[in-house]
Amino acid sequence: GKFPLREQSIVLIGFMGVGKTTIGKTVAKKLFRDFIDIDEKIEKRFEMPAKDIFRLYGEETFRKAEKDIISEICQQRLKVVSLGGGAFLQKEIQDICLNSSIIFYLDLSWERWKDRIELLMESRPVLQGKTMKEMKQLYEDRRPIYEQHHSRIDTDYHEIEEVADYIVESLK
Ligand code: S3P
Repeated sequence: GKFPLREQSIVLIGFMGVGKTTIGKTVAKKLFRDFIDIDEKIEKRFEMPAKDIFRLYGEETFRKAEKDIISEICQQRLKVVSLGGGAFLQKEIQDICLNSSIIFYLDLSWERWKDRIELLMESRPVLQGKTMKEMKQLYEDRRPIYEQHHSRIDTDYHEIEEVADYIVESLK
């Protein structure tokens, strides 16, 4: 790695809607670190929600901004960072994060994820107009991209606090 282990930023990855932002915020608070949400940074840069960026400028523009912002953020130490669920589609982003940070993969089963669909459908551009079958396919297709991690956490049966504590403990 680029920084001493105890100074490395924590990066949370996983499929959309698994709780990367909520858990990230909790971990940051416990560690007295800054929390950075990459989606939020992108939305601030464009001054609009991700859904509108996709609609007006296309996914490619979103992915380019995602890569630029992650490259910038990963120069920094001692952060807690949550990535958008599609960020790891880019090999370059995987490499940047693997080199600079400790990557935690938040895993959630399809069965549990399904409970959150309605909420996610409203805000997530990649789910727009998709059938259940297509979403399941996306879930399956995306799983292998998260295999590049340092630690996997099964979030099916654990509360936010528990997952956050687990991450904090694993740094000791
Ligand atoms: C995306 C996931 C979203 C956001 C954008 C694209 C994806 O982040 O970056 O809508 O391709 O999976 P979350 O993982 O926070 O939903």
